[in-house]
Amino acid sequence: MKLVPALLALAAGVLLAAGPARAVELSIVSGDTGNGIKVLREILDRYEKKSGNKVDIVVIPPSTTDQFGQYRLWLAAGSSDIDVYQTDVIWAPQLASQLVDLTEATKDVAGEHFPSIIKSQTVNGRLVALPIFTDAPALYYRKDLLDKYGAKVPTTWKELQDTARLVMDKERAAGNKDIWGFVFQGNAYEGLTCNALEWVMSNGGGEIIEPDGAISINNPQAAAALDMVKGWIGTIAPPGVLAYQEEESRGVWQTGNAVFMRNWPYAYALGNSENSPIKGKFDVAPLPAGTGEGDKPAATLGGWNLAVSKYSKHPDDAIELVKFIASREMQKYRTLKTSNLPTIAALYDDPDIARQQPIVPRWKQIFLNAQPRPSATARIKYNEASSLFWTAVHNTISGQGSASDNLADLEARLTRLKGKGW
Ligand code: GLC
Repeated sequence: MKLVPALLALAAGVLLAAGPARAVELSIVSGDTGNGIKVLREILDRYEKKSGNKVDIVVIPPSTTDQFGQYRLWLAAGSSDIDVYQTDVIWAPQLASQLVDLTEATKDVAGEHFPSIIKSQTVNGRLVALPIFTDAPALYYRKDLLDKYGAKVPTTWKELQDTARLVMDKERAAGNKDIWGFVFQGNAYEGLTCNALEWVMSNGGGEIIEPDGAISINNPQAAAALDMVKGWIGTIAPPGVLAYQEEESRGVWQTGNAVFMRNWPYAYALGNSENSPIKGKFDVAPLPAGTGEGDKPAATLGGWNLAVSKYSKHPDDAIELVKFIASREMQKYRTLKTSNLPTIAALYDDPDIARQQPIVPRWKQIFLNAQPRPSATARIKYNEASSLFWTAVHNTISGQGSASDNLADLEARLTRLKGKGW
């Protein structure tokens, strides 16, 4: 008689343990750049089919600086509204304490990714985010226009300036009234830190803060680089460039109104998309360098990762979701659709990627030699250090104060910040 309830209890226990699969609702937050959200949704649809879970995308503005501010608010409030954060490569040290350690859960796949990226997302031995794509910038140029005027692809900033001027002047004289020579990211935000690090470094002006912590930015080569850029505003670059982020630059470029553009690889797929006016008319090259002896091009290292919030109510499902999006198969899918650079070395030899997004294998070396921003050095103070830097740069290129005065002031401010400990 006692056997029946025991059997029933056993059956119920088996049912509970084995399923039916309990569906969970997850949310992932992501900035809106290019076709990134559309492709993320396609990836999530596949995840939903496979897992039975549901995932909402919380879409926020494209500026990484705005995103960081918003992430801090959510995390400071201990919000469980967001399970998975899409995080910029520079934010790991500042967000680490509020993110789940993924080391154990990803030990089967972490080794597929470039070790330098895994290292950048590891803080005090905890892997706090899994990479989904990496970033290294390109000089986009209009092949058709350079050919038309017999111009070469520039390898120095001076050549870029001269060619931009020449092509722009001739095109305008021929009635192409809206064309500009060069667009980039001149707004006062993290993107300007990326652009300005490239100008400064490629001109022999150092890394702003050196890996040993020395504040090196107040030097004549750095000042000369910023003076050069100031000379571009309103001449080869539209005055509005001082408010451009990635998407504004791409807007001008993709409508055919710029000879050159500095941007990340995502603009490659979009520029070649079906209705793009510049489809098939452009190519990419490494960014130019200064003209000093030993000057080499510099490319700032970017990239995006996925992290699980410590406040998530479903951390295990969230980790599975992160692993799914970061997987080799989904990275291939993303790369084919967006020309984002994968973080899995094997994909650089993939024949489909090489055929459909040739920038990817071509950009492997540029990415491997890209310059990290000083976030591993300034650590928890990186955001503040970067904001002091982009402010000094923005002031200089918009004509508020000389480069040398602004850099001397920046040095003093960074020294004070460092004195408070970073
Ligand atoms: C890109 C990079 C990111 C960088 C940002 C600046 O999204 O991947 O690392 O911080 O641009 O705007």
